[in-house]
Amino acid sequence: MNFASQLTHPVFKAVGEEADRKGEAAFAIGGFVRDLILNRPCKDIDIVVEGSGIDLAKAAAKELKAGKVAVFKNFGTAMFRCQDMEVEFVGARKESYQRGSRKPIVEDGTIEDDQNRRDFTINAMALRLNADGFGDLVDPFGGLSDIEDQIIRTPLDPDVTYSDDPLRMLRAVRFASQLGFHIEKRSLDAIERNAERLDIISAERIHVELNKILLSPRPSVGFKLMMKTVLLHRFFPEMVALKGVERRNGIGHKDNFYHTLEVVDNVAMVSQSLWLRWAALLHDIAKPPTKRFHPDHGWTFHGHEDRGARMVPKIFKRLKLPLDHQMKYVQKLVLLHLRPIALTKEEVTDSAVRRLLFEAGDDVDDLMKLARADITSKNEAKVERYLRNYEVVVKKLIEVEEKDRVRNFEPPITGEDVMATFGIPPCRPIGAIKNLIKDAIMDGIIPNDPAAARALMMRYGPVVLDAWKSIQSRLSEGEFNEKGAREAFDAWLESVEVSPNP
Ligand code: CTP
Repeated sequence: MNFASQLTHPVFKAVGEEADRKGEAAFAIGGFVRDLILNRPCKDIDIVVEGSGIDLAKAAAKELKAGKVAVFKNFGTAMFRCQDMEVEFVGARKESYQRGSRKPIVEDGTIEDDQNRRDFTINAMALRLNADGFGDLVDPFGGLSDIEDQIIRTPLDPDVTYSDDPLRMLRAVRFASQLGFHIEKRSLDAIERNAERLDIISAERIHVELNKILLSPRPSVGFKLMMKTVLLHRFFPEMVALKGVERRNGIGHKDNFYHTLEVVDNVAMVSQSLWLRWAALLHDIAKPPTKRFHPDHGWTFHGHEDRGARMVPKIFKRLKLPLDHQMKYVQKLVLLHLRPIALTKEEVTDSAVRRLLFEAGDDVDDLMKLARADITSKNEAKVERYLRNYEVVVKKLIEVEEKDRVRNFEPPITGEDVMATFGIPPCRPIGAIKNLIKDAIMDGIIPNDPAAARALMMRYGPVVLDAWKSIQSRLSEGEFNEKGAREAFDAWLESVEVSPNP
């Protein structure tokens, strides 16, 4: 088989010519060859040479007038960019691994040695770049026919390949999920046998594969495989806990693992966003710890959205995922995921819609995508009814947002405004006055504009300050302790009814 006509990028000819000049054999190898055959886009090219990768990279870069060559002496590799491609060079290697470490002992070797040590047959194919035989496929393990049969198989005994580098077990699952391929039975069994060895892999490497599984067309494929092979048990016990159905008095609940995967697949159909997919994955994560059975009304999972949101940082931290705005976004969506459905169950008031817009902010569209994806009933009439109700909510969200602009709500009165108006130092009533104004806007008592907010502040500010002063003096007389005073003030605030006009 020859692929010369597809090796149109100038780097291939140049590398072949330089290798010929040195009298060495050079090949494009690995993921690039796989993706070329599969017609998938690819941004990097790996070159293997039976000689020095660094020397060949320098010679080829000079010939191509490519940019700077980055040399990694310790690894014997070199890299440069050429047009839109990253091209990486390495000398053919023979590697042997030791238990307990991913760091191999490396010696120079032939192309066969190099292919032997690779993870899967589909990743072990090489294309010859020397002029004699340019584009010839070197495929000692039948990678091409495995691509045709859509199968993931290791070149060597799977126990050896996985034990050499346990990350490959997760890579097998990832390729199965990305490409829709099957993992050969021998490999599946070997993964299950070696699953514990994943413990020597860093959380960073695990989450890279996890993210690729989540970004694949149907992430459920990868998660079901990780569950079956018990890989998931090594790093994601909270997801494992979602699996299973408990029955009491003849009443069962749905299997939250499979439900979650359906929701992730549903979200994957409408969005490419990794973090929305993470939110889908974690939306019900606290169902196991909040599960209760009541003889009268069956199974409940009260507060799972709140508990789930609190579990997100712990999970992100353990997997070394980013802890900044992406984590906060996932947390917010987990917390709010039941709100749209709650809106469909009651008369949709402007006030409830405003509060949802305020809390979700710019993520309200993603929240609606998640909420829609969360309808996984087998009863089609029920699904349709829910979806119709969502349309009503979406219409209302748009209507209210156009009218009131609360989606990116900025308080029209700041803490500084309150302090300057009443000539007071920082103290609790300031937050209380700001909150009172925000609630009045959310409840539609006053419009979302500075003049109305100011008028309300002038009316209620003095009342709040008086109440605070009176509680403070009772505190100094010993009637309350600090905590009691705070509670009395909160209770008083609860009782205030704000009216639109004096
Ligand atoms: N490889 C391997 N074992 C690993 C990682 C990589 O044998 N644990 C080999 C495979 O031959 C692979 C090549 O190194 O094709 C390049 O690896 P990498 O760039 O990580 O992955 P790709 O296969 O290119 O796939 P992707 O770009 O989708 O990650």
